[in-house]
Amino acid sequence: MGVVEELAEIEGQAQAELAAAADLNGLAAWKSAYLGKTGAVTKVSRGLGALPPPERPEVGKRVNALLKTLESAYDEAEARLKLAAQNAELAAERIDVTLPGRPPAVGHSHLTNMVLRDITSIFAQLGFQVWESREVETDDYNFGLLNFLPDHPARDMQDTFYVDMPPSAPKVLLRTHTSPGQIHAMRRYAPEPLRVLLPGKCYRNEQVTVRSEMMFHQFEFLAVGRNITLGDLKGTLDFLAEGLFGKGTRTRLRPSYFPFTEPSAEMDISCFLCGGKGCRVCKYAGWLEIGGCGMVHPNVLRNGGYDPDEFSGFAGGFGPERIAMLKYGIDDIRWFHSGDLRFVEQFS
Ligand code: DAH
Repeated sequence: MGVVEELAEIEGQAQAELAAAADLNGLAAWKSAYLGKTGAVTKVSRGLGALPPPERPEVGKRVNALLKTLESAYDEAEARLKLAAQNAELAAERIDVTLPGRPPAVGHSHLTNMVLRDITSIFAQLGFQVWESREVETDDYNFGLLNFLPDHPARDMQDTFYVDMPPSAPKVLLRTHTSPGQIHAMRRYAPEPLRVLLPGKCYRNEQVTVRSEMMFHQFEFLAVGRNITLGDLKGTLDFLAEGLFGKGTRTRLRPSYFPFTEPSAEMDISCFLCGGKGCRVCKYAGWLEIGGCGMVHPNVLRNGGYDPDEFSGFAGGFGPERIAMLKYGIDDIRWFHSGDLRFVEQFS
């Protein structure tokens, strides 16, 4: 077979194999088989020297022509296969935009906030305005202005987190109750009458147990005006108790002691489960303890800017976690701040 025939045969075979190349790998193998250093066309061109000199120019031209033909055929095939690969990839990654989307998980209020919101709306019906007061307080607002004497043992009722301050600075602490908000509110409104609700976080340096946490919530209610009596306090508590625990819930006041109220009381409600007959929830007492309240002490009225001869008031401070625990049968206060969704999601 002469060189010209050989070239024709190489071309026929090369074109056929190229047409059959299924992917870019096959294409690379084809390139090295025909156009590579040891490829078929290269071999022929290396053999040119062995031809009789008169034939060389003609055969040389044909070799060059074949190289060009095959190179451009290669380029076309490469473009075709790349496009095919890209199309296959696009088809595989195709997104069906008509599929329904995955809805994002939407959260909801925490149980504590839901209870506080209920309480807010009950007090709002009686004309109480919500006031937010600071969580970092001075010793004076948390204790002194609320009629705690400097070394009075009543300060030990509440173990306190103090903030490190230079010795010359006033003592600063995390409030142990929402009561200091009373002073802020009175100083803002005196001598006008006021009704405020002060919800928020409180902190105590206490052993954490099923009944006590280092951080918890309270809501403080305070009314100051002319001729406000214990009867007004009792009526407000009855309204709150029925709003929270249902119609027919009764309240009772037991004498107690707080430095900032005189007289002071603990408020109980009739057990919402047994109605007062006695059951497991109320430990057969028929009553459930809710929190402290009383008539604002004259010294506290004075510290707030009111003349106690002209003004009187009532106040109280209850824990929404305790109310929620009673209402929903929760046996451990630590659940509230645990961040455990198994707990949180039960109250939506
Ligand atoms: N501050 C008290 C406490 O944390 C609760 C309290 C009792 C608040 C009587 C009051 C009140 O406003 O009148 O234990």
